[in-house]
Amino acid sequence: MPTNNSNSEQTAKQEMLEVRVWRGQGQGQLKPYQVPLRKNQTVLDVITEIQRLQAPDLSYRFSCRVGVCGSCAMTVNGKPRWTCRTHVSKVADEGVLTIEPLRNLPKIKDLVCDLAPFIDTWQKAGAVFKPTGTRYDAPAKVDPDSACRRAADASLQCINCAVCYSACDVVNWNKDYVGPAALNRAWTLLNDVRHDERAATLDKVFEDGGCGSCHSHGNCTRHCPIELSPSASIAGLKRTLFTGLPGK
Ligand code: SF4
Ligand code: SF4
Ligand code: FES
Repeated sequence: MPTNNSNSEQTAKQEMLEVRVWRGQGQGQLKPYQVPLRKNQTVLDVITEIQRLQAPDLSYRFSCRVGVCGSCAMTVNGKPRWTCRTHVSKVADEGVLTIEPLRNLPKIKDLVCDLAPFIDTWQKAGAVFKPTGTRYDAPAKVDPDSACRRAADASLQCINCAVCYSACDVVNWNKDYVGPAALNRAWTLLNDVRHDERAATLDKVFEDGGCGSCHSHGNCTRHCPIELSPSASIAGLKRTLFTGLPGK
C-alpha cells in the first residue's frame, strides 16, 4: 500500500536558502531566515515568501514583477539590483543571500527607502520637460533618423529604479551631486526638439553638483538593469561644453 514516505523524504531533502534580511527603521540589523530553494526563483519571490509565511511585518516595495515599474530595487549581496528579474541562482553566494535597502537613500523601514531625494534630483538637473507646443497643437514630427533622436533613443527607457544612483560612489560622498539618472534624463531632453527649455537645462547640468562632478568610473552603467549607459549620457553632456547644444 502506498505511503507518504516518499513525500516526507522529499521534504526532508528540500534544499534551503539562507537569507539575511535588513530589518529595522534607521538603525537596524540583518535577520536570518530560511526559504526553500526553488527552480527559477527570483530574489523578489524569496522576499515575498518570507513576508507571507514568516514575517508579515516585513516592508518592501514592488509592483509589476516584470521589470517595468522600477519599484523593486534593493541591495542584493552587496550590489544594487532589480529583484523581480534577478534569479537567485545567479546571485546566491554559496546558498546565502543578503538583502538590504538601496544605498545612498534614507532608510524608512526594512527594505523600503525614501526615494524623494532621488526624485528631487530631476528638478535640480533641469530634467523636467517643458513642451514647445500645447495640447491643442498637432503632435510634433520628429525625424527618427536625426542625430538628436538617435542620441535620445539610446537613453530613453529609464524605469527610475534608482539602481544607478545607489551604485554611484560620488553620490555617496557628495550630497550636492544630482547623480546619473537625472543627468541621463537631462541628456534626453537636450536631444528632444520638443523641449522648450533646452538652454536652461544645459545651464543647470553645468551648475555645482552637475555633470562636472561625475568621475566617469561607470558604476552606474555597469549596474543599470536595462543596460542604459548614464555615463555615456554624462559624457555627451560634458561634450556640449565644446560643441554647444546638440543640433537637430
Ligand atoms: S560614471 Fe559618474 S554617475 Fe556613473 S557611477 Fe561613476 S561618478 Fe557616478
Ligand atoms: S538609468 Fe538605469 S539604473 Fe538608472 S534609474 Fe534608469 S533604469 Fe534605473
Ligand atoms: S517589480 Fe516592477 S521592476 Fe521589479
